[in-house]
Amino acid sequence: MSGTPTAVLFDVDGTLVDSNYLHTVCWWEAFIQAGHDVPLPREHPVPPPVAEPHTVRFTPMSTSVTDGLNRPVVAVANRLPVQRGDDGWELSPGGLVTALRPVMSTHPGAWVGWDGGTKGMPPTLPDSGVRLVPVGLSAVQIRNYYHGFANATMWPLLHNAIEKPRFERPWWYSYRDVNAIFADRALAALDERPDAIAWVHDYHLMLVPQLIRSRRADQPIGFFLHVPWPSPDIFARLPWREQVLTGLLGADLVAFHTDRYRGNFLRSCARQLGDSGIEVRDSSVILPDGRAVATVTAPISIDAAEFAEHATDPGTSARIEALAGQFSGRTLLLGVDRLDYTKGIVERLQAVELLLERNPELRTSLAFLQIAVPSRDDVREYRQLRDTVERRIGRINGLFTEPGNDVPVHYLYRGLPPRQLAAYYALADALLVTPLIDGMNLVCKEYVTVQQARGGSGVLVLSEFTGAAVELPQAVLCNPFDVEGLSYRIEHALRQPAEDRRKALAAMAEHIRTHDVHRWVTDQLAEIAARRDHARFFR
Ligand code: ADP
Ligand code: G6P
Repeated sequence: MSGTPTAVLFDVDGTLVDSNYLHTVCWWEAFIQAGHDVPLPREHPVPPPVAEPHTVRFTPMSTSVTDGLNRPVVAVANRLPVQRGDDGWELSPGGLVTALRPVMSTHPGAWVGWDGGTKGMPPTLPDSGVRLVPVGLSAVQIRNYYHGFANATMWPLLHNAIEKPRFERPWWYSYRDVNAIFADRALAALDERPDAIAWVHDYHLMLVPQLIRSRRADQPIGFFLHVPWPSPDIFARLPWREQVLTGLLGADLVAFHTDRYRGNFLRSCARQLGDSGIEVRDSSVILPDGRAVATVTAPISIDAAEFAEHATDPGTSARIEALAGQFSGRTLLLGVDRLDYTKGIVERLQAVELLLERNPELRTSLAFLQIAVPSRDDVREYRQLRDTVERRIGRINGLFTEPGNDVPVHYLYRGLPPRQLAAYYALADALLVTPLIDGMNLVCKEYVTVQQARGGSGVLVLSEFTGAAVELPQAVLCNPFDVEGLSYRIEHALRQPAEDRRKALAAMAEHIRTHDVHRWVTDQLAEIAARRDHARFFR
């Protein structure tokens, strides 16, 4: 920088966060103009004005940030990535595992998680050296911590209270105890790898960041929330709201899928913790001791290359051939979800029913296949949902099956191996992703990737209440609460010319390919390491 010895540090959005210091900076690039009106942090001195406009390129002054990318990772998540299935070890269900599994195969370290009650867990992930650290839970802990606080309190609360959250004090006590157990196991894993980054995931473990911080002041800690953060009014219902927020603020970085969730979180911090000396400044939360907790928006994704490979794999082609006969001559609509009340499966079925009611010719020329992976069936709402879904399917088939013809609605209640799933994605003319609310939704990214890899012209009908809708505006967006409107959106999607569908698929597939899960991990780990370096520097 000509003519001045000043060094400046910009936040990623271009805000000047500090000045007059030498920094550990690796990827910021900034443009400084004479007299440029840059917001300054209150307690830092104003830098001397710069005479001429300059482009400033910072290069790394410490290797620790870039090293962050190669450092071991101790991931802490409720579930380990594998569980015992009928045919041996298989992947655990859900988007968190889908996203994190490929990552952990490229980073050394450990994965701390609940063993799901299965014994004889393999010591490492099959395709990598990552050590699996199983946490055993008692029957009472499973009931109170997992089914209770995690899935009947936090899950509905964070999903905009779409089902009524239940607040039970014994569940909260159990949540605290189990979080302490996870933190202990994580600390033991970190003791073995002193240079590791601790990376805590999701709503089951929101107290863990602070539990680690209280014992390792200098530990780089990141937290990623895989679900939405609701409006501050809804979060404020939680009787233990301050404790949960304080738990999260043990991290150096708290990350979300969308700007909306991140904004909601920052507003919750300001509202619930403002009186305890906590201040929200831009995108950071400043604690009374001066420590800054950064927040970022980082939409998660899939391993697009791996899914494209599944799509074109000869094994998948054989499966497609085997399945094609079943749906030949019919337009295939597909739904793929965990059987969860957030996914809008009942509204989807209602829309299909309206579609068939309005268009009698579709009763023999259209098939809708719902693949539902069993989920949390010890929670009352999930059992009731299964009953409702199965009753609705029976109702539609009872009403609209034409004698001599196949039923219009098909249903698989099970998990499928990835290549089998890819075969269904390849065959489907349209995928219906209609959650009432969904943090991200990876199923739609998988479908787009498979369709594009096989040169298909499938169409994606996507709820505007998913994190994915922010990234994939080329989809046919829909409001699943309006079931009649949804049925018309499906009709509209099916009528779209093939050329328009291909264009939309190409744009969406390109976004997914260039924003895949590997990029997400690299960015997240670098950001966590950088935030810790920054905190250390300013202490
Ligand atoms: P969530 O995280 O709420 O379960 P996502 O859409 O983000 O929702 O992720 C779901 C993951 O689970 C995807 O990777 C998807 O392929 C997988 N999945 C969903 N249903 C099935 C199924 N029936 N069989 C196998 N995998 C499934
Ligand atoms: C969602 C959650 C994950 C969870 C997954 C499966 O993706 O964000 O944390 O693991 O659902 O749910 P389960 O309760 O079976 O782990």
